[in-house]
Amino acid sequence: MNTEKIMARMQRTGVLAVLVVDRAEDAVPLARALLAGGVDIMELTLRTPVAVEALRRIVGEVPEMLAGMGTVLTPQQVQEVQAAGAAFGVAPGTNPRVIQAAAAAGLPFAPGVVTPTDIEHAVECGCRLLKFFPAETSGGLKHLKYMAAPFAHLNVRFIPLGGLDLTNLEKYLGDPLIQAVGGSWLAPRELIKQQAWQRITDNARQAMQLVQRVRPGGAQ
Ligand code: 3PG
Repeated sequence: MNTEKIMARMQRTGVLAVLVVDRAEDAVPLARALLAGGVDIMELTLRTPVAVEALRRIVGEVPEMLAGMGTVLTPQQVQEVQAAGAAFGVAPGTNPRVIQAAAAAGLPFAPGVVTPTDIEHAVECGCRLLKFFPAETSGGLKHLKYMAAPFAHLNVRFIPLGGLDLTNLEKYLGDPLIQAVGGSWLAPRELIKQQAWQRITDNARQAMQLVQRVRPGGAQ
């Protein structure tokens, strides 16, 4: 799937789940629990030894899920996650070697930005979908609007992450700069460890109800 299609899916669904998985066998039930609540985009994070295997299982067994990989910190990891079937990659920052490796591999990639300089680096490398991270502690939507203004003519879009949950995502979702909002609140690491699939489905459903309110006609 190319960047355009991924962005269209993000626009439609409005939220994506950021996940830290400790056991590969939790991956498929976790993906199904999110889907049952209507969330069909996830960013697994490369923060545990089983992350790539978890991705592989989801790609193989839950094709309805758009599964990307976050915390991609090296060019080698770009190769690794692409080989495992990642639909897209995400990084916390703008390491040019990582972004260029993703571009060379044809892997849609959202680097993390929090300053205008970061955005310059990212757009110079050809990115237009950017992770705004850490969103809430760096000034939230107000900071993003000022920061993004000089780049508006380039059509960059953002995924705010870091400190978002049901209490604050509405204001982001309603802004045209935002492609989708995300976070770990949908499926926190502890709930995954407890295999609390119903609670994860409930969280996803609540988030999707909010998306439908704020972006009517977007999410199905
Ligand atoms: C991350 O990379 O950890 C994400 O941005 C999630 O942040 P959150 O845990 O504050 O939702």
